[in-house]
Amino acid sequence: MLTTLDLYNCFWLLLFVFTDIISTVEFNHTGELLATGDKGGRVVIFQREQESKNQVHRRGEYNVYSTFQSHEPEFDYLKSLEIEEKINKIRWLPQQNAAYFLLSTNDKTVKLWKVSERDKRPEGYNLKDEEGRLRDPATITTLRVPVLRPMDLMVEATPRRVFANAHTYHINSISVNSDYETYMSADDLRINLWNFEITNQSFNIVDIKPANMEELTEVITAAEFHPHHCNTFVYSSSKGTIRLCDMRASALCDRHTKFFEEPEDPSNRSFFSEIISSISDVKFSHSGRCIMTRDYLTVKVWDLNMENRPVETYQVHDYLRSKLCSLYENDCIFDKFECVWNGSDSVIMTGSYNNFFRMFDRNTKRDVTLEASRENSKPRAILKPRKVCVGGKRRKDEISVDSLDFSKKILHTAWHPSENIIAVAATNNLYIFQDKVN
Ligand SMILES: *[C@@H]1O[C@H](CO)[C@@H](O)[C@H](O)[C@H]1NC(C)=O
Ligand SMILES: *[C@@H]1O[C@H](CO)[C@@H](O)[C@H](O)[C@H]1NC(C)=O
Ligand SMILES: *[C@@H]1O[C@H](CO)[C@@H](O)[C@H](O)[C@H]1NC(C)=O
Ligand SMILES: *[C@@H]1O[C@H](CO)[C@@H](O)[C@H](O)[C@H]1NC(C)=O
Repeated sequence: MLTTLDLYNCFWLLLFVFTDIISTVEFNHTGELLATGDKGGRVVIFQREQESKNQVHRRGEYNVYSTFQSHEPEFDYLKSLEIEEKINKIRWLPQQNAAYFLLSTNDKTVKLWKVSERDKRPEGYNLKDEEGRLRDPATITTLRVPVLRPMDLMVEATPRRVFANAHTYHINSISVNSDYETYMSADDLRINLWNFEITNQSFNIVDIKPANMEELTEVITAAEFHPHHCNTFVYSSSKGTIRLCDMRASALCDRHTKFFEEPEDPSNRSFFSEIISSISDVKFSHSGRCIMTRDYLTVKVWDLNMENRPVETYQVHDYLRSKLCSLYENDCIFDKFECVWNGSDSVIMTGSYNNFFRMFDRNTKRDVTLEASRENSKPRAILKPRKVCVGGKRRKDEISVDSLDFSKKILHTAWHPSENIIAVAATNNLYIFQDKVN
């Protein structure tokens, strides 16, 4: 049986180097496919190799399955603004037929992509030749019946729907509802609900835009549907609060059903309090009983039945508390770290600086800092836990807080839904680690 300990003896499995910065990573619901999006608007899908009988010792590795351009740079002439092609989020739909479907979004437009395999092609058209050129009708003397001929497997991605023109601000989240008929997209001030079949209309379910923009004190930072209850969703804000809404209560969810907030410790108040309490990610546990939030310094787990404080708080990099001033000056304090659960909701993973990422075991309360680095690891080598020291004497193997590299940050990670396989995006490198197999 795999235990948590095995995970801490985590193997370096694969490294893929991208030409651009990776901006999102997402496993499909069984973990056989892994999708990544990048700053250049591309989506790359990896597929896990099938385990073959004569290679029992090797667990399936991931290979590139399909690459396509999802979004292109655009220009908004009304506002004279450039719309970046960067993929902010990808979400898979559960598989219903031979094809796979995923949603990808940049700041403004959500697209539904169909990814399908083709290993046959039609031949013998009447009106065009094999290269697709139209034939001169005068030369057509007999009619043929087109036939399907086998060819090398090809994976095609086709845009099936484009959901545009519904967001004035930047889209930060998309979430597929458990009814699989609808999804939501959230920007800084509004959340919209879409039907997968309808692209020219969406329903506005949250709107926090004040009548007078000068009164704006809070923005939406992330949103997600409950994994099993299709009427329930949560959204987090830049003030460190989380609202749970029920769409059955009213069409426009201006009034939340629950409001989660931890009162600030007055002894910790500083100029940066408000910035560092802003929530950068919110995730329901697979069970749907808890939510997890990430702010600049911590990860918190909230019980849905307890609104006044989190049930667990994990310090991600508390040693940065004394560095907030320089992190403000170099804008790092605004970095948006994401967080993920493992398949059984027992372990939490989130990123940090210096290509470090952290794991917290909720049962044993053990935690570990690991590094995604090409220099210190070889394929199949076991990752060594890292330690940061604050002031005083630095022990061998420790790294001083002053020598951390703040340009190397791990914002996006993903955890395989049923196994200890993790995907970690470190700028343009995608690392895949797995636990040690006996
Ligand atoms: C995930 O992808 C694999 C393809 O390798 C597919 O067989 C599986 O059905 C997908 N899972 C879901 C739940 O869509
Ligand atoms: C959306 O498109 C459908 C079909 O083209 C049309 O019947 C419907 O009226 C449109 N809705 C809006 C709000 O434009
Ligand atoms: C206050 O700061 C200390 C460390 O300086 C930290 O351990 C503690 O969790 C903080 N309290 C809150 C409520 O954030
Ligand atoms: C995380 O969850 C998966 C799926 O339930 C489980 O197999 C794995 O052992 C868990 N990982 C850890 C480190 O507990």
